[in-house]
Amino acid sequence: MRIGVLTGGGDCPGLNAVIRAVVRKGAGVHGHEFVGYRDGWRGPLEDDTMPLGVPEVRGILPRGGTILGSSRTNPFAVDGGPERILANLREAGVDGLIAIGGEDTLGAASRLHGEHGVAVIGVPKTIDNDLAATDYTFGFDTAVNIAMEAIDRLHTTADSHHRVLIVEVMGRHAGWIAFHAGLSGGANVILIPERRFDVQQVCELVGRRFASRFAPIVVVAEGAEPVGGMPVPEAGPRDAFGHVRLGGVGHWLEGEIERRTGKEARATVLGHVQRGGTPTAFDRVLATRFGLHAVDAAEAGRWGSMTALRGTEIELVELTAATAELKTVPPRLYEEAEVFFG
Ligand code: F6P
Repeated sequence: MRIGVLTGGGDCPGLNAVIRAVVRKGAGVHGHEFVGYRDGWRGPLEDDTMPLGVPEVRGILPRGGTILGSSRTNPFAVDGGPERILANLREAGVDGLIAIGGEDTLGAASRLHGEHGVAVIGVPKTIDNDLAATDYTFGFDTAVNIAMEAIDRLHTTADSHHRVLIVEVMGRHAGWIAFHAGLSGGANVILIPERRFDVQQVCELVGRRFASRFAPIVVVAEGAEPVGGMPVPEAGPRDAFGHVRLGGVGHWLEGEIERRTGKEARATVLGHVQRGGTPTAFDRVLATRFGLHAVDAAEAGRWGSMTALRGTEIELVELTAATAELKTVPPRLYEEAEVFFG
């Protein structure tokens, strides 16, 4: 069997671990051949390939990013995109694809499979951890650890200067990174997109923390919004899947907190630092297990499915389930953390 592999959407630590596991088991156990497609769906659309065999995957387990490159190309936004993909796969003698991606990449995979008969297995990745079909996506644990470490460091400098330090983290419309990083880093306020926040209440928590002689750390998810919404209209650039570029709430809060409390407030935007560099052990193991199960699924002809973590087991679920629902932070979980606020 000849299998194409691609990585699409925002990169995250652990992508190379999946690629390595797919190729090592596929070539070593099942006798598969592989083709690497560059930059997500752009690869099969434009027939842009690279060699992918055991020599190419040696040494990549701890490396961040993806040796295949990534993009947010949407094959359904390109005229005749699905037909071009089918023709290119046929021409290259590729029997099926392993697509490693998040909501958008897997959403396209699901449609390509369901509407155009493309043989594809999905592997879920995203630092946002917002795919409902799997308990965890790889990349999330690394992003949380990076953010937690940043919060640990910000505590000491905030205390020295008696400042409010705000940390803006990624996560799109889910607050998982903010919630886990804030809870593990001992943040004094955690603001997530799932619950609109009241700035005045944030300022009261800030005041309470200062009363303890320590300085407050506010963790804010990039998608979090105040009651009444952000004053700036959402007019920024959109990607091929129609997503706006988020960010800015941290600096907005900086001004609001300073104005209302008279305390100096400074924001740190962690940005792409959360997506770069070496994966944690948890992410390497999860990514490796996903890769092993994905290539077994291809061998078994389970096209149209996706690997998922359920408890401690890796299972196969329908690709359509992968993107059916956004997994957000449940209110009861958030309320558990409120005891540490202020
Ligand atoms: O989905 C992963 C993610 O890092 C989000 O948390 C973030 O909003 C988005 O991607 C940023 O995407 P880009 O790097 O394309 O600006």
